Amino acid sequence: MVLASLLPALLSAQERPLTPEQQEKQRAANAECFSCHSAEGLKAPPKEGLDLKKLRGLLQHPETFYQADHQKLLCTKCHNEGYDEHPHAADARESTSTCTDCHSKKANLIEAQFEKSVHADLADKITCPTCHDPHLMRVASKQADPARIVAQDNRVCLGCHDSDEQFAKFAPEKKQRPPIDDLHAWLPNTRLHWKAVRCVECHTPEVAAGDMLSHQILAKDKAEKDCLTCHSASSTLKTRLYRHLVKEEQQRLGFANSVILATSYVPGATRHPLLDTLVLGAFAAMLLGLLAHGLGRVLTRGKHRPEEEKSTEKKAEPRDGDNGQNGDHHG
Ligand code: HEC
Ligand code: HEC
Ligand code: HEC
Ligand code: HEC
Ligand code: HEC
Ligand code: HEC
Ligand code: HEC
Repeated sequence: MVLASLLPALLSAQERPLTPEQQEKQRAANAECFSCHSAEGLKAPPKEGLDLKKLRGLLQHPETFYQADHQKLLCTKCHNEGYDEHPHAADARESTSTCTDCHSKKANLIEAQFEKSVHADLADKITCPTCHDPHLMRVASKQADPARIVAQDNRVCLGCHDSDEQFAKFAPEKKQRPPIDDLHAWLPNTRLHWKAVRCVECHTPEVAAGDMLSHQILAKDKAEKDCLTCHSASSTLKTRLYRHLVKEEQQRLGFANSVILATSYVPGATRHPLLDTLVLGAFAAMLLGLLAHGLGRVLTRGKHRPEEEKSTEKKAEPRDGDNGQNGDHHG
């Protein structure tokens, strides 16, 4: 009893879980807003004469909200005065809390990083909620599935960088959107990479373990281009995308890198000697195979130099980010 009542007091105000009573109260209060602002609400609004066309564009999703970062908050924590009644007050929007109101310490840090970011010139157009929908987003450290983290975080960047319409809304005048696949033509399997790693893995400076992800987006001269940064035993993915998961897995299975192994076949990433031998063995066998194949070609072709061979091969094949590279390297 004593412990149970002490424990919440020891946690910071933000981390404290809601008691069942608090949660019930919170959900009942939010249900008032959802009675209009949800798919169900739109179908059966609690009163007549609403502008349903407008409302259709203003729906929220209760299930998503209760999994997002702000799941414990009342809608009215951020949507302050003016929304309790409908029609809402004409100036209600102006009193909506900003991110900085509640996250001043983090926001200060982030704003300093943003000033050095490629988007710095767009500071009046790109603000926190441009990238973070406060009703949807779930911080990576609180998610368990790397595929979901990647999908969520890349949706933010691709939302602009893979859409002419959205890009044009933010870009300086006349600036055309360069196709994202062309910019990364040097990366084999680009679309697979978009599903497996985040843009921010390569486009932000590395930070110390436990620190917040940097919001300084790096331009091309500073972005990560070295394959071995990820495809090696000391993969930075361990301290980035997988940093939370590896620990969990470690505790659960006592096996250091099974997450990396399971999601991406990175030779040498495991500390399990048998698996290492198997992976390296398979790799070596493949290399030997390739070597023997290459040697055979050199012997039969005589004077052809490797450079010539490469460039003619490149010309002959249609340029396609998703060609046989994959099988060559990883079997
Ligand atoms: C009876 C239905 C109804 C309820 C209940 C309701 N809303 Fe609305 N809300 C609307 C409609 C309809 C609009 C579209 C604009 C308009 O008609 O005022 C809207 C617009 C909004 C907007 C965008 C308006 C703007 O200023 O740009 C926000 C934000 C909002 N509501 C938040 C809330 C919150 C928070 C609650 C709960 C405290 C809530 N609403 C409860 C019907 C409702
Ligand atoms: C952490 C703060 C926060 C909480 C909690 C929050 N909202 Fe919002 N909401 C915002 C902000 C900020 C915006 C404006 C976003 C923008 O300007 O792009 C917004 C926008 C909206 C809009 C208008 C969307 C639009 O496209 O213009 C609606 C409707 C809305 N919220 C409803 C709700 C409902 C319902 C809840 C509770 C389930 C809720 N919000 C909880 C911060 C919050
Ligand atoms: C009314 C206060 C309030 C406002 C306004 C607010 N937040 Fe939060 N936010 C919180 C609280 C409280 C938590 C922690 C919830 C928890 O611990 O479960 C949180 C958690 C988060 C998290 C998860 C990371 C972490 O440190 O736990 C992110 C990311 C976040 N907020 C971003 C934003 C952004 C972006 C905005 C502006 C669109 C915003 N918040 C506006 C109160 C707020
Ligand atoms: C250009 C898009 C963009 C902008 C602008 C942006 N963020 Fe982020 N933010 C992201 C992405 C992507 C992540 C990675 C998500 C993660 O790690 O959970 C993130 C992560 C975060 C995190 C969690 C970091 C961590 O490692 O725990 C917080 C908190 C946060 N943002 C707050 C803010 C605030 C506050 C602002 C405005 C001052 C802001 N962000 C502006 C894209 C953006
Ligand atoms: C709201 C739209 C938007 C979002 C979201 C966004 N960007 Fe951008 N980004 C732009 C625009 C517009 C430019 C061009 C800026 C300029 O030319 O001044 C740009 C420029 C860049 C550049 C420099 C390239 C150049 O042409 O100067 C990089 C790198 C970049 N963004 C990466 C990212 C990453 C990574 C994310 C996700 C964390 C992201 N962006 C999210 C709109 C966006
Ligand atoms: C594997 C690392 C990696 C990943 C993942 C990655 N990028 Fe890049 N990106 C780079 C490198 C390196 C360059 C510079 C290429 C060059 O030298 O031409 C670049 C170039 C760019 C540019 C042009 C930059 C400029 O200054 O002109 C943009 C915009 C961009 N990336 C956005 C993104 C977005 C959006 C994503 C996520 C969908 C992403 N990148 C994912 C490494 C990466
Ligand atoms: C930011 C980390 C990162 C960087 C940098 C990176 N990769 Fe990857 N790469 C991955 C991840 C994660 C996968 C996902 C593998 C999967 O899903 O099986 C992957 C997949 C691949 C695949 C497909 C493997 C398969 O099993 O299908 C190839 C080939 C590949 N990368 C080659 C490269 C090359 C070549 C470079 C450098 C030009 C590079 N990668 C840079 C993280 C990275």
